[in-house]
Amino acid sequence: MQRELSGKRAILTGASGGIGRAIAEALVKAGVRLAIASRNADALNQLAESLRAIGGDVLVVPTDITKPDDRKRLVDATVEKFGGLDLLVNNAGIGSHGHFATSTPEIMRQVMEVNFFGPVELTRLAIPHLMKGNHPVVVNLTSMCGRKGMPAWPEYSASKHALVGMSEAWRGEFTRFGVDVVTLVPGLTNSGFGGQLLRRDGKLEIPFNEGMKPVELAAGIVRAIQKNSREVVFGGEAKRLLTFNRFFPRLTNWLIARKVKKLYANQ
Ligand SMILES: NC(=O)c1ccc[n+]([C@@H]2O[C@H](COP(=O)([O-])OP(=O)(O)OC[C@H]3O[C@@H](n4cnc5c(N)ncnc54)[C@H](OP(=O)(O)O)[C@@H]3O)[C@@H](O)[C@H]2O)c1
Repeated sequence: MQRELSGKRAILTGASGGIGRAIAEALVKAGVRLAIASRNADALNQLAESLRAIGGDVLVVPTDITKPDDRKRLVDATVEKFGGLDLLVNNAGIGSHGHFATSTPEIMRQVMEVNFFGPVELTRLAIPHLMKGNHPVVVNLTSMCGRKGMPAWPEYSASKHALVGMSEAWRGEFTRFGVDVVTLVPGLTNSGFGGQLLRRDGKLEIPFNEGMKPVELAAGIVRAIQKNSREVVFGGEAKRLLTFNRFFPRLTNWLIARKVKKLYANQ
């Protein structure tokens, strides 16, 4: 069933980032009442000002998604302000670029905390409110790396695979409560992501500036929420890679391995 967004009460994490800002604007334009969350309070307040200027009903809740108290404050403040919750968009995320053999346990844990445990535990707190919501939905921003693990993105790939798997399990479970789950699988996007990497050691240059425009991605995300899509892949490169991998997995792996050997031939 098509989802009407006007009047819905929502939480959006990672709102200060490239994709998050664009989603925030698209949701507010669709009439959503929105709590915006991330660590950077100044960036959130600036965003809130621009959203209010276009008529948005916006709540700022500075939040470190890895902190249990912050997650609870975010859900409590949103429910108090809007009287309930209909939409949770788990968008906050970080990455790390470099091979596993030279990475650290700290990077592994930090990526999992932000990309997996943060959204999962936030959803745990949100579910009792979503169950009482109006056509409620959990929306998870995963990645192309959540459907195909990529070299130099081991922690990131693992965290996004985990979130994809959790989304699939939730989809079955949450039908009991009438809560939908939308899994978003974007490819390369020209956001602030490349500048926030915990590590930048991979040999392959990633041309973030050639990626999708966040505004275009956000428009697709809003359509996916309205259409109540189960899973949507965004971006030509991601669609090509995942389709090729589905039909020719051995060839895909062989091509990837050949590229890695070439890049690291002198090491
Ligand atoms: N860019 C791409 O190519 C691409 C492709 C596929 C999927 N994605 C996914 O899209 C989502 C948005 O990423 P983006 O591209 O917009 O990157 P971005 O510009 O770096 O934004 C990331 C957002 O996450 C927030 N964040 C990071 N750590 C956090 C924490 N501990 N607590 C709360 N918020 C935190 C950041 O805000 P603060 O620093 O203020 O906390 C920021 O708002 C991520 O889940 C990412 O994995 C991105």
